[in-house]
Amino acid sequence: MTASFHLILLLLISTTADREHFTSHGGPIQGRSSADHHLRAHHSSRITGSSHADAGSTFAKEGATEHTSISDDQKPKCWSDEASSRQYPMLTGTWKDSTEEGFEGFYDATEECPSYGHDFDCRRPYTGTPAGRVEEEFRKVFQPDQCSLESLDPVHFDAALAGRRLIMFGDSIMRIQWLSLACLLRSQSVEETGVGVSWYKTDLPQGEYQSSWGGEGTKEVVKQFAGQFTLKSGGQVIVRDMGVFNDTLMAELLDELGQLREMDVVLVNWGAWYPRFTWGYSEAPWTAWQEHMTQLFKDFLIPAPAKIIWKEYAPQHHEGVLGINFKVADKLPGGPWQTDCRPASVGESWYNDWVAEYLRACEGDACKHIQVLPIFNMSLLRHNSHFGSFGHGTADGHADCLHWCHNVADWWNVLLYNMLV
Ligand SMILES: *[C@@H]1O[C@H](CO)[C@@H](O)[C@H](O)[C@H]1NC(C)=O
Ligand SMILES: *[C@@H]1O[C@H](CO)[C@@H](O)[C@H](O)[C@H]1NC(C)=O
Repeated sequence: MTASFHLILLLLISTTADREHFTSHGGPIQGRSSADHHLRAHHSSRITGSSHADAGSTFAKEGATEHTSISDDQKPKCWSDEASSRQYPMLTGTWKDSTEEGFEGFYDATEECPSYGHDFDCRRPYTGTPAGRVEEEFRKVFQPDQCSLESLDPVHFDAALAGRRLIMFGDSIMRIQWLSLACLLRSQSVEETGVGVSWYKTDLPQGEYQSSWGGEGTKEVVKQFAGQFTLKSGGQVIVRDMGVFNDTLMAELLDELGQLREMDVVLVNWGAWYPRFTWGYSEAPWTAWQEHMTQLFKDFLIPAPAKIIWKEYAPQHHEGVLGINFKVADKLPGGPWQTDCRPASVGESWYNDWVAEYLRACEGDACKHIQVLPIFNMSLLRHNSHFGSFGHGTADGHADCLHWCHNVADWWNVLLYNMLV
């Protein structure tokens, strides 16, 4: 068994939806559809406890702002015009209990997410979930130290994406962010157009796309998942999820999606499948990651006319200072195996350091359309909000401390919202 086997198992979570047809989007973006009446606007009222027409405009408000000691008005916005010019913004902060009574996240995924948005629902009743974990983890809201965040307003988010495409490329961690977005924007999405399925059930390029980093670390680009939904404004939110970057596949996907345009937004990240330190690989995957990302930036992101957002790596919480899964425990007969997720003080920051350096070294204006979504530090603080923190996969000692619950991914989208509106 290769060392990657467990990782692959971990990452291969598929849906059961039927084969879906993914049409190319060289054609016009769909406009307002007759499905509008299916909007479940009343669901957003659950968040604020009110049901007036503009309930959607404030749904994270109390949670996000009321408990600050300085009024948020006194802090600059995290993505004000001035801040927007910063390509790689600092973002430190803390997670606090929401002051909104009964607040347990922006939605209940089981109850409220679209049919294609149910993966990684940590709140799904599960026998291994530690008592009180849901309440404790979903009650928390992120409070930046230096700046203030606007509450995510689905109506404004929809408007900001009018006629645009938000295309998310990455691995299963990116899929979680897409799923969170599908839930957060449910009042604005034209549900019939939404689909999220395992890659092999689509008409997308299948191919082999071998990515090799030599020795026992030879890996396939595991094409995992594809999804898209359309908003009332005609905006589209698209995800293509594969374990590793592959240049040929990327080119084919961009053909399939149609040329990128200036108004499009590309959110992108790879990393989790390229462990820097793990059993049997030495540094080969890490070297491969640097080569792949160089190719990605050089051949795809830098020449793209679109707005590019590099999403920082989302930390793992397996063991030790770095939180990474060395796969050592897996090799030991009888364990010790891991049954919970643990705090990591530093995390795998080398991915971010590399990108920061790459952007710094980028000549002239070549990278000026590329910005960074700073999710690493905020997520590092939440070791108890992984799938494995809720008991999923812990029975056999393989706690999933890589994949995140929606509650944290929702805040990545709050940042994204603040960047885009
Ligand atoms: C994250 O935190 C580290 C150490 O606390 C700091 O050096 C780094 O600049 C922070 N990154 C961002 C994007 O805020
Ligand atoms: C992508 O896959 C093709 C076909 O398997 C392969 O020739 C190519 O080297 C791969 N690219 C990368 C960056 O690994």
